[in-house]
Amino acid sequence: MKEFSSLKGFKDLLPGESERWEWVESIARTTFRAFGFSLIRTPILERTALFTRSIGETSDIVEKEMYTFKDWNGGNITLRPEGTASVVRAYLEKTSHTPILPAKFYYSGPMFRHERPQAGRLRQFHQLGAEIIGEIDPRQDVELLSLLHTFFKRLGVEGLTLELNSLGCPVCRPAYRTSLKTYLEEHLPTLCEDCQRRFMANPLRILDCKKKECRVITKKAPPPLDYLCQECSDHFKSVQKGLRKLNISFVIRPHLVRGLDYYTKTAFEITTTALGAQNAVAAGGRYDGLVAALGGPATPAIGFAIGMERLMQLVPPSPFQNLPLHLFLIPLGKMAGEYLFPVLYALRRKELRCEMGKENASLKSQMKRADRLGARFVLIVGEDEIDRGTTVLRDMATKEQINIEFTELTETILSNVGLRD
Ligand code: HAM
Repeated sequence: MKEFSSLKGFKDLLPGESERWEWVESIARTTFRAFGFSLIRTPILERTALFTRSIGETSDIVEKEMYTFKDWNGGNITLRPEGTASVVRAYLEKTSHTPILPAKFYYSGPMFRHERPQAGRLRQFHQLGAEIIGEIDPRQDVELLSLLHTFFKRLGVEGLTLELNSLGCPVCRPAYRTSLKTYLEEHLPTLCEDCQRRFMANPLRILDCKKKECRVITKKAPPPLDYLCQECSDHFKSVQKGLRKLNISFVIRPHLVRGLDYYTKTAFEITTTALGAQNAVAAGGRYDGLVAALGGPATPAIGFAIGMERLMQLVPPSPFQNLPLHLFLIPLGKMAGEYLFPVLYALRRKELRCEMGKENASLKSQMKRADRLGARFVLIVGEDEIDRGTTVLRDMATKEQINIEFTELTETILSNVGLRD
């Protein structure tokens, strides 16, 4: 068996846990739809260049975490490490002619990053994400954050913090970068090896390094907020004002940067103290330059992605979990089995959760199975019942018995069982 065991960092989702996912996904559907988002599904495999261009050549994801291989025709393809790049590609390829902007998409599905597996960090993980393409108004940032807020509230997830920052734009970023580099240069020999490498290509990423020796230095580094141009500064103020108006609390984290290079202006993370080191349940921000970087017209955009595995650890048990059977049908003998099998089919078509025992098994063993499956009702049919044309529906909890005529079998079952869910 070891020969075929699952890969490190890849997990099965099994019954017992999968019901919770179904419930979260159903709440996501209604919430995201209410906020005007439509479902988008993009392929899991894309051309490698899409991600290198979007996420950034010098990001950790592109440098060392992508599952990249050669396609049969020799081209480089990659298992998607995130969803935003694919959504923008699909938007540009298929839907950018849509006259209605902003375009609002949501998605959910697996992402792949070759990271070191640990609690809360997998190599195949799932994201639930949303993207708004075509709107620069700060109200759009607030709308997106209010969607996240509503979704978490509906799930009953508590103890989250919205951490907010602004990363500036191509107008103000260069001055900030220069200032940051000037500060970091003095401390270069003390930074970790990775950060020394990042210093030339991607100094902002140094602010995100978790190593102790780097954190001592980055704590005192100049924050991007001090260098925002007027437009970015006004935009950020409006976002904060809008959040306050909706009573959505947040904290400003001046050194918050993101591991993906496409962000501009608003950047955020939703964190929890309940998950240890991997504390970001969701993250996102504006990426006003990405559509143009992928060959489209200059188009602002903003989005987020929730890490589903992390979220699931915070979600209370769902009402979908351990749903009991409505009814267990007990046939005693071949004739009864033949009689009940179409009844089982008819009831399932009415969405009753039912199972049927084996016609040659004893009453006792079938009752035991009904009990184990948590059936609320059982219906026992043997030759005698077929001769008489009647049987009883038994409530397993109250032991109450309801007489049923065979001529009205499904109707009586439905009116008694279906109503008690
Ligand atoms: P990200 O911060 O790379 O952003 O990922 C978003 C979330 O996915 C994280 O906050 C975390 O909850 C989850 N996540 C990331 N990596 C792993 C992993 N290895 N194992 C388990 N969970 C993980 C993005 O991917 C952006 N595309 C978000 C975005 C959308 N920005 C704009 N639009």
